[in-house]
Amino acid sequence: MKVLGIETTCDETGASIVIDGQTVLSNVIASSADIHERYGGVFPELASRRHLESILPVVTEALEKANTSPAEIDLIAVAISPGLIGSLLVGLQFTKGLSIAWNKPWIGVDHVEAHLYAAMMGKTLYDTRSSFPALGLVLSGGHTLLLKINDLGDYTPLSTTVDDAIGEAFDKVAALLGLPYPGGPHVEALAKQGLCTAYSLKPGKVKRSPLDFSFSGLKTSILYAANGQNGKEPRCLSLQEKADLAASFQETAFQDVIAKAKIALGQFPCQAIYLGGGVCNNQRLRTLFYDAFSSIPVHFPSFDLTLDNGAMIAGLGYHKFLKKPISDPLDLEARPRNCLKLVP
Ligand code: KG4
Ligand code: ZN
Repeated sequence: MKVLGIETTCDETGASIVIDGQTVLSNVIASSADIHERYGGVFPELASRRHLESILPVVTEALEKANTSPAEIDLIAVAISPGLIGSLLVGLQFTKGLSIAWNKPWIGVDHVEAHLYAAMMGKTLYDTRSSFPALGLVLSGGHTLLLKINDLGDYTPLSTTVDDAIGEAFDKVAALLGLPYPGGPHVEALAKQGLCTAYSLKPGKVKRSPLDFSFSGLKTSILYAANGQNGKEPRCLSLQEKADLAASFQETAFQDVIAKAKIALGQFPCQAIYLGGGVCNNQRLRTLFYDAFSSIPVHFPSFDLTLDNGAMIAGLGYHKFLKKPISDPLDLEARPRNCLKLVP
């Protein structure tokens, strides 16, 4: 079954053709990060306008690269939640239009669930299913979630962040260190030249909720180190000091995620770990996870499937459609907040 997946939840316009939820024939992504850079974060209205400009060329390129004609597409899947409402609407309305024009069924999927599914792509459904129950972690710019995966589409939420998402914290720390947006990859690159024990930083703890995350305190520690104790007197940090701060921040954030994953595994025995979301691009995160959990399989998405993309949407859409093979109704709406109750 050939599925066209469409992703427009935030600042990336993605389209991809995937066979049977596994084989990626094309995966085209146009980012609007260049226009958001000067604002230090995503400017929602500009993101939706760029989606409008990009969506047709991106879908056309995905079809061409996959050597596929519209007639060969069996299903169109689109991310309908969660995300920026203007951005979501572009993908959703475009999909509804295509569904009518091409006379093909369409299905809406959840972006966060798709991030997790990205780590399952390329494996047989039998292999994936036999690794359940598994622990799932979504580490992205908008989400930090720990959940138990009982089956595809069946999750028990365990915890989330009470303030910043982990990727958001990377972006804010990057801005404090004078690095461009999106900051995650720049923090990782700078951290490679730094000493992760140079600063002793404390991970965020949430009272009476040991599995929940909090990154705002950690971010504030970097603010004070960079801008003095009142946060308003920028210090002239040497490149080495910045690298040490980046490394110390990154290590503290990741060790916190690992510590909480360990507590979760202690409470809810699982057979594997699946991670997804843009922060999974980070090589240090991957190394720390493989080292910390050597006794159970740890699955990351391939690097081209960590950031927002249409392939994970097509892949998950295929499985949802297998379970319930009917087109979604044309009056189905986008949901900017999570609709799958992945968040407790
Ligand atoms: O999954 P994603 O593309 O978007 C959301 O669904 O939010 O994640 C984007 C986030 C950004 O915050 C970005 O800074 C972060 O992923 N990120 C990284 C790295 N690459 C991207 N964070 C840490 N290290 C990286 N190498
Ligand atoms: Zn995402």
